[in-house]
Amino acid sequence: MTYYQQHQSDFLEGLKTFLRIPSISTLSEHKPDIRRAADFALNELRAAGMTKAELIEGTGNPLVYAEWLGAPGKPTILFYGHYDVQPPDPLDEWKSPPFEPEVRGNDIFARGACDDKGQVLIQIKAVEGLLKTTGKLPVNVKFLLEGEEETGGEHIEEYVKSKPPRLKADAAVVCDTEMFAPEMPTICVGLRGMVYYELTVQGADHDLHSGVYGGAAPNPMQAVAEIICALKDRDGHIKIPGFYDRVKPPSALERQAWARLPFDEKEYTEKEMGARELVGEPEVPLFERVWARPTLEVHGIRGGFTGEGAKTVIPARAVAKISTRLVGDQRVDEAMAQFKAAVKAATPKGVTAEVKMLHSGEPSLTNPDNPFIHASAEAMKQVFGKETVYIRSGGSIPVVGVFDRYLGVPSVMMGFGLPDDNLHAPNEKFHLPNFYRGIEAVARYLEILGQ
Ligand code: BES
Ligand code: MN
Ligand code: MN
Repeated sequence: MTYYQQHQSDFLEGLKTFLRIPSISTLSEHKPDIRRAADFALNELRAAGMTKAELIEGTGNPLVYAEWLGAPGKPTILFYGHYDVQPPDPLDEWKSPPFEPEVRGNDIFARGACDDKGQVLIQIKAVEGLLKTTGKLPVNVKFLLEGEEETGGEHIEEYVKSKPPRLKADAAVVCDTEMFAPEMPTICVGLRGMVYYELTVQGADHDLHSGVYGGAAPNPMQAVAEIICALKDRDGHIKIPGFYDRVKPPSALERQAWARLPFDEKEYTEKEMGARELVGEPEVPLFERVWARPTLEVHGIRGGFTGEGAKTVIPARAVAKISTRLVGDQRVDEAMAQFKAAVKAATPKGVTAEVKMLHSGEPSLTNPDNPFIHASAEAMKQVFGKETVYIRSGGSIPVVGVFDRYLGVPSVMMGFGLPDDNLHAPNEKFHLPNFYRGIEAVARYLEILGQ
């Protein structure tokens, strides 16, 4: 039996301990839990045998850094992951409490199980196994973990942009994406960027009786709806002038590869999403819509009366959370200017609209013809017993673009999540066979790189 097979139950216990910490980065009352999660990761790295493991303090949540540099002449890999998680709500939809991990069948259910604590532990345990069994690693290894990925990752961005010498590496390895399908090892080569906004619309300076003033008073809830409908039409086309100018279509080769992926649209729609019908730009194929086209989504609208029963009021203000995803050569600064101009043009009379940017990240695209990606494809093929596929993802991991632009380091996105892992949703889970195979695949990867 290998170290990895022998220690599966220890790995699982470690994961459960990690998952019990509610390290929610969007909620300030969880600051102490953020620190506990950072300390947990730090101790795991030390116990694994990494040297110079320490927290990097700064303006935001601590970064966790560790290194093992005992393989002179060999490449250096920079492992990235995040120890923060999304809020768990709506709480009543969870079958077991989000921070009391529960194994049901082959899955472990908890907030952060897949995104990203399970995958952070995959990286640490892979290194631990090699160090415990051979006393060394086949290549040089560094870790940089962050605690505010889910809120936009400002701290890590600032740190990486300062180009600290200790981050020098040949490739970054990011385990924070999904496999295309179960049993199908997957490398993600493209991520969308994003800009997240808060739109505040103000009408009168206080709430008004809708009978007495209806017909004369501006209604900010209606205004929010009008603005949103002006930004995107019913066919999913974004109406912001210039927004598509820098979008780049996928190459013919990529399109062909996507068309070969085994896919059941009905199952995707009805089972995975639980929806009746797909929407979006009718003339654009599905994978291109979610991987290679910009989108605009409304996440929430707050304002007015939503309590029990009826209240006849014209609210004084309304707030909407809206984000846009970016692709190709679209850039945050320009997209933001376009968005603000479009909101201004769409704002009806009688109200004011204020746009605040909450966070942003540039899109990224990696050329798969690179030895670090080939080695990853080979390692996963060996462990999963199936050919590795290359896809893009519609999600965003801002640091990937930052590694590329500021460190000149390509990212190898070998992720072990599954399409039904419920990221950011109730009943998030991680498939335990992927947890264990992920650990072995990352270890195999380091061995291949060392040869
Ligand atoms: N790990 C996800 C991104 C992801 C999910 C990539 C699935 C590929 C497949 C990451 O934690 C995430 O949720 N990112 C946010 C962006 C962030 C800036 C808030 C996202 O994509 O919404
Ligand atoms: Mn993530
Ligand atoms: Mn996430």
